[in-house]
Amino acid sequence: MTPKITKAVFPVAGMGTRFLPATKASPKEMLPVVDKPLIQYAVEEAINAGITELIFITGRNKRSIEDHFDKAYELETELELKNKTKLLDIVQNILPNNVNCIYIRQAEALGLGHAVLTASSVVGNEPFAVILADELIDANPGALAQMVKVYEQTGSSVLGVHEVELEDVSSYGIVKLSDDSLKFNKIERIVEKPQPSDATSNLAAVGRYILTPRIFTELKNTKRGVGGEIQLTDAISEVLHYEAIFAHIIEGKRYDCGSKLGYLEATINLGLKHPEIGKELRNYLQQLKLEL
Ligand code: UTP
Repeated sequence: MTPKITKAVFPVAGMGTRFLPATKASPKEMLPVVDKPLIQYAVEEAINAGITELIFITGRNKRSIEDHFDKAYELETELELKNKTKLLDIVQNILPNNVNCIYIRQAEALGLGHAVLTASSVVGNEPFAVILADELIDANPGALAQMVKVYEQTGSSVLGVHEVELEDVSSYGIVKLSDDSLKFNKIERIVEKPQPSDATSNLAAVGRYILTPRIFTELKNTKRGVGGEIQLTDAISEVLHYEAIFAHIIEGKRYDCGSKLGYLEATINLGLKHPEIGKELRNYLQQLKLEL
C-alpha cells in the first residue's frame, strides 16, 4: 500500500521581482485574484486533495501569510458586533479544523530546491506534495487531486505538467517522456530552462509535485544551477537514476500569476465566474470590446 499524502510544502520565500513594486513589502502569494489571495487558492487545492499538514517555507516580509491563516480576533469581534454573519463565516472558515499550519523560515532565498530541502525535517521519511501558489490552476477535480490519483496507482513521484509554447520553454523545467510509457507517462529526462533549440518537448513542470523523500538525499548534494539557484529540477533529475517518476498532464486552465499578464488573465477569467460580479464584469468587457 502506498502511504497517503498528508503533507504539502508551499515555498513562499521568493523575492517576486517580476511584480515589483507590489512585492516590495508584501508577498506575491498574497496578491488577490478577485477576493482571495493566491496562497488561499493553493491551500484549498491541497485540502481538496486530502492534505492536512500545510508547511509554508517563508522568508522576509511574509508575516501576512501567517496572519491570513491565523485567527483575527479584532476583525471577528467587529463583524459579530455589526451582525455581518456571512463575512464572519468567510473569515472564520478559511481552514477546516483538522488542518495544521507549520511555518519554517528559509534564511536565504537560494532557490526552489533549497526551499524544499528546508522542509525535510518536518516532512520526514514520507512522500509529500509541493505547490507553487503563483501557478494558479482552475480545475475540477483540482490539479493536486488529479495527481494524487496517479500517485496512488503508481506509488511513485508525480510531476504536474502542461504544454507550453516552444518559445517559452526556457522559463520552465521541461520533461521528456519515455517511449515505453503505457498507462502512465513515465519521465525519461527533465531539464531546467532549456533553450527552445535544445528542448526535447514542450511539456513544462508547472508548480505541482508529488515527491518521495529520496528528493532530500539528492537536494543535499545539488549544486547551484541555472540562475545561481539550487534548482528542484536538478535534484529530480538525479532521483530519476534511482526511481521512476511520472508526469500527469493537468486537465484545467493554468495561469502564471507570477507574471503580470498571467495574473490579469486569472483575474478576468475567475472574475467572470464569480457569482457576485461575473455578470457585470461580462457586460463591462463587452462594452470595452466595442470601444477598443
Ligand atoms: P520564482 O522562480 O517564481 O521566483 O520562484 P520568485 O522570487 O518567486 O519570483 P520572481 O521570478 O523574482 O518574480 C518559484 C517559487 O519558488 C519559491 C517562490 O516563492 C515561488 O513560489 N521560492 C523561490 C522560494 O520559496 N525560495 C527561493 O529561494 C526561491
